[in-house]
Amino acid sequence: MNHSSPLIPADVPVGVRDVFLYNYNAITRGTSHAFIFTGDHKIEHTSDDFTDIEHLFRIAAHGAVGAFAIHPGLIARYALEYSNIPYLAKLNAKTNLVPAEHHDPYSAPLASIADIVELRQAHIPIHAVGYTIYLGSTYEEQMFEDAGKMVFEAHEQGLVVVLWMYPRGHHVTEPHEPSLLVGAAGVGACLGADFVKLNTSHLSRDLSADDMRDIVQAAGNTKVLFAGGATVAVEDFLKQVQFYLDHGAAGIAVGRNIYQHPLELACSLTDTLAEIIYR
Ligand code: FBP
Repeated sequence: MNHSSPLIPADVPVGVRDVFLYNYNAITRGTSHAFIFTGDHKIEHTSDDFTDIEHLFRIAAHGAVGAFAIHPGLIARYALEYSNIPYLAKLNAKTNLVPAEHHDPYSAPLASIADIVELRQAHIPIHAVGYTIYLGSTYEEQMFEDAGKMVFEAHEQGLVVVLWMYPRGHHVTEPHEPSLLVGAAGVGACLGADFVKLNTSHLSRDLSADDMRDIVQAAGNTKVLFAGGATVAVEDFLKQVQFYLDHGAAGIAVGRNIYQHPLELACSLTDTLAEIIYR
């Protein structure tokens, strides 16, 4: 089992530590690993990846995922019906309509921690919040300011924080070198994230064991999660996940490789993933 006592950040007030532990254990199932199912593509990729919103809620409601990451508007619209799902509120967004080569990306805040606290008071089980930062964008400093404040306020309320750390912008050359992910992991740690999520889809090559060691080391005591990318054959996807886990990753935050399958297969895939991630 991946059991170890969770690290409680010092910006979690003493009186809120139990809340933080409750939330942390909810998404890690009492291990040091996390299995996050993502549906934030609805804004990020403007319905290119899926149209049926409820398909994703049905998969999350199956009960195998540690958290379902979606934007607060969808939580507000569906959570009363799907009240047994552990949620991660993705607090900022941008669409893919303006290509990065035309305009450097900025992901704008959609809701505040105070809004999330209100939803929690209405008994919506939101255990964590997420935020995307486009490192290297000309708007990097604004996203740092937004995220820095958000991390502090989230911890004040005992919420777990996952930062999506994505190097992107016209100064960030394509294809990306894995060393960019080492930098991204380190910056996420400096911002106080409990977990950083990294995306390998723009890399010039597959990650090696050495890359993984450098990434995990750069993150310090912040845990590292990986995205899944475009959908591939199930066995290739599972092999990739196993590679991450075998090399120090704490889990995954994945969408398309799960929800782009029919419900039954998607649910059984979440069972398999939960088994290998929370082992
Ligand atoms: P996938 O596993 O489907 O790639 O999802 C991971 C994710 O980070 C989503 O959370 C996010 O919406 C999307 O990828 C962002 O992708 P892009 O790199 O195209 O902006």
